[in-house]
Amino acid sequence: MTEISLTPETRICVTGGDGFLGRHLVSLLETSGYRDVFVPRIEDYDLKDITDIRRMYDDSGAEVVIHLAAVVGGIGANRENPGRFFYENAIMGLQLIEEARLRGVSKFVALGTICAYPKFTKVPFREEDLWKGYPEETNAPYGLAKKMLLVQSQAYRDQYGFNSIFLLPVNLYGPGDNFNPASSHVIPALIKKCIDAADAGAESITVWGTGKATREFFFVEDAARGILLATELYNDPDPVNLGAGFEISIRDLVGLIVELTGYRGRIEWDSSKPDGQPRRMLDTARARERFGFKATTDFRAGLRKTIEYYRSTLRDRS
Ligand SMILES: NC(=O)c1ccc[n+]([C@@H]2O[C@H](COP(=O)([O-])OP(=O)(O)OC[C@H]3O[C@@H](n4cnc5c(N)ncnc54)[C@H](OP(=O)(O)O)[C@@H]3O)[C@@H](O)[C@H]2O)c1
Repeated sequence: MTEISLTPETRICVTGGDGFLGRHLVSLLETSGYRDVFVPRIEDYDLKDITDIRRMYDDSGAEVVIHLAAVVGGIGANRENPGRFFYENAIMGLQLIEEARLRGVSKFVALGTICAYPKFTKVPFREEDLWKGYPEETNAPYGLAKKMLLVQSQAYRDQYGFNSIFLLPVNLYGPGDNFNPASSHVIPALIKKCIDAADAGAESITVWGTGKATREFFFVEDAARGILLATELYNDPDPVNLGAGFEISIRDLVGLIVELTGYRGRIEWDSSKPDGQPRRMLDTARARERFGFKATTDFRAGLRKTIEYYRSTLRDRS
């Protein structure tokens, strides 16, 4: 297997490059001097369709693919779309990797997710524990579809010498996140609820679950930096966690967002709604050891930027 050294001229294709994480990554690639970054938009290339995938490879001439395109969402969206989240994420990845191999693409970077981990993984989650159980039920179809790309990456490396790496980011947040209540993740959902309730003078907001579950949150600009470092420096079969390496309960998270948004009303917990996975926090040592990545954004500072983004760009339009 030949390992590619990236140069400013390397042709890099970022699927999902117009999404939340994708925009931050594409901007980082450009400021880092990469001059040939191709972003296939869904209206031009539906990546579930093999003919569109072939056309995308023809048009981009990609030497490196960073595959971010996916259908994603919070617990509600996962519960409503288990079939779609399984099929679309699996078929996009499987066909993109197969076609990349057939065309001799030099490197494929596949994005997994923390939702691939077993429901009751020992905390902090270590990559060695990925196969020690079934994922939490509400996000298992999404998590497992993504996990198949790890199997494919390792099998293709063994049989064909194809250089595909697999990264597992934890829950992301930051400016540009999805604030649509039908599909948003917990941080943008809470920010929107608190700010909208404060604007409307509402006496209370309702939050899903008991508040006892814990989560780790990873600032999107840190995630983009981790992915770029792995793209440049990492060429091994082992999956790698990408995260910030801390854990916070949903109850404490709500308290923090209430404080930072200035919402003054009551919090009502709807314990008939699911908590999702009981605890989540990654062991991030491998990313540090193998390609020198460490998250640097302070959580409060990241939350402030996200709140400011919602206030300045979306509040009046929602
Ligand atoms: N957000 C998180 O907390 C998180 C955590 C761990 C891992 N990840 C992974 O990170 C990646 C990026 O997530 P994100 O939060 O940035 O998601 P996102 O904002 O929804 O972006 C996903 C992108 O994929 C595109 N896409 C979806 N289906 C497509 C198709 N059939 N053909 C072409 N493009 C398609 C979307 O286009 P449209 O917008 O036009 O539909 C969108 O631009 C995903 O692989 C996700 O699994 C995310």
